[in-house]
Amino acid sequence: GHGRPDRGDGLNFDAVAPNTEDRITTPAGYEQAVVIRWGDPVLPGAPAFDFDKQTARAQATQFGFNNDFCGLVPLPGNDRWLMGSNHEYTTESSMFRGYDSNNPTEEQVRISWAAHGFSVVVVERDRRSGKLVPVIDRHYNRRITVNTEFAFDGPAAGSDHLKTSADRTGRKVFGTFGNCSGGVTPWGTILSGEENFNGYFANGEAITDAKVKERVSRYGLPKGASERKWERFDKRFDLGKEPNEFNRFGWVVEIDPQDPKSTPVKHTALGRFKHEACTIRVAKDGRVVAYMGDDERFDYIYKFVSSGRIARGNSRRAREHNKSLLSDGTLYVARFTGNSPQSEIDGTGKLPSDRAFDGTGEWIRLASGKKSYVDGFTAEEVYLFTRLAADKAGATKMDRPEDIEPNPRTGRVYAALTNNSDRGKAGKEGATEINPRNGNKNGHVLEWEEAGGDAAATTFKWTLLLVCGDPNSADTYFGGYDKSQVSPISCPDNVAFDAAGNLWISTDGNALGSNDGLFAVPVEGRYRGRVKQFLTVPRGAETCGPVIEDRFVLVSVQHPGEIDGASADNPKSHWPDGGTSQPRPAVVAVWRSDRGRISG
Ligand code: FEO
Ligand code: CA
Ligand code: CA
Ligand code: CA
Repeated sequence: GHGRPDRGDGLNFDAVAPNTEDRITTPAGYEQAVVIRWGDPVLPGAPAFDFDKQTARAQATQFGFNNDFCGLVPLPGNDRWLMGSNHEYTTESSMFRGYDSNNPTEEQVRISWAAHGFSVVVVERDRRSGKLVPVIDRHYNRRITVNTEFAFDGPAAGSDHLKTSADRTGRKVFGTFGNCSGGVTPWGTILSGEENFNGYFANGEAITDAKVKERVSRYGLPKGASERKWERFDKRFDLGKEPNEFNRFGWVVEIDPQDPKSTPVKHTALGRFKHEACTIRVAKDGRVVAYMGDDERFDYIYKFVSSGRIARGNSRRAREHNKSLLSDGTLYVARFTGNSPQSEIDGTGKLPSDRAFDGTGEWIRLASGKKSYVDGFTAEEVYLFTRLAADKAGATKMDRPEDIEPNPRTGRVYAALTNNSDRGKAGKEGATEINPRNGNKNGHVLEWEEAGGDAAATTFKWTLLLVCGDPNSADTYFGGYDKSQVSPISCPDNVAFDAAGNLWISTDGNALGSNDGLFAVPVEGRYRGRVKQFLTVPRGAETCGPVIEDRFVLVSVQHPGEIDGASADNPKSHWPDGGTSQPRPAVVAVWRSDRGRISG
């Protein structure tokens, strides 16, 4: 019946149908509202957003562009949180009317600097309406931009490779950008991964040193002018002038929203790559484990195990101790081995004779503190040029590892492998049991279980939970569930869990012709693999940053209207404000009209 919860799988909604509408569609019996969108005030005194009168000064006090990750840290009392959102990238042609990409003005560049980074905003839930509302909080609210001071810490802090003419110490760096997914730590800080940082730099061809060029190239050598031309207004983005500035990005950053005056940190111990997310699980002995993906075709899955153990409680002393945990430990990269003969992996996604894409794996040590385990690399080089060290160590090439999340109920870990159009192409690695489709358009979801259920273990067992796509297609697999009963799903990007242990998956780049969305799937019991779509996002948008609370869900609606040919002069979406308005990235809350629980 209409809006009647389906109690069978414990997920209290009926699936929404795939569509191409320019709005968010939710299940019957649910409500939605924007929490905050690009340009909305964050800091006291911030002006109301005016698309046609943007200034860098205003933007630095307002919510930034293209929010991806979203995390909530509870504040004392009920229904009050610190919401952390990152601002991954800017799309100037959709931000400014008549934008000339060859000749941006200095003010446009400065607006973009201010529109990147991170926002901390207090949010409160109004129990009567169900709405989540932002509060202009004088103490907590914060904007971090491309020009906010960060500190390097960990074993590579102070490295010569991190020194520039502006920072002779290699310990102080301004800004963060390309921040994709992230994680909330058990000690109430927020982690965010610097992902596609290479595109912000110019003139890589000016590098003359062959070793430097090899190291830059493994991350994508920028050639000529950069897309946004920032190098014209700040020479640190010009590789011909400041080759080491490039090494100062590609890190996991840690921001403490509870201490708004704190200097955010870039953790060198977690390695340098196109960091997608960083999520924490506490090992049996209290050490903390950070799971991380490197989102590039044929790149790797990593984990870090701290040397120190977590201190319980939220005292200042415990928090300061815990904030040091990601500074010292061991960095590993994953090697996966299938248990079926390679001859049974034909690249189409057809299951091997044991009816599962599954096998075993090991965590290969790369470095621990100042000690390297990779031939030809110092520990410092492992942390700074992690991709090259992992190549050398024989890591398994994956189909774009995006978000990773341990299930809080079982400890099993889930990774979204979004797609890989190059798998099996001439000169590229072909299908293997763990990445079983050539030209992988729709991606898959990997599950593994650490030996003994201990996050610090160095071996594990794995299986593919989902091989995504159209369930009517023979190349898909839904955890063994009846495929006539599931929603189509394509290009998994972010993963999250609800308190009942159901996996939630958001998508980016749906290759099935419909808009992206958010899905939920049980991973235990008889409903394992039954994927149900919870919402769809507007045209051209990506669904990011899902946060699954008992009575509401948050999603980041990133780049609405990002469709070929779109610009501020020709917008392809009018979400969320409707009419002829310009599209604006936003955080959206969805809740049940009866204020009831979403799952369990
Ligand atoms: Fe920014 Fe890998 O998505
Ligand atoms: Ca198998
Ligand atoms: Ca992502
Ligand atoms: Ca993505």
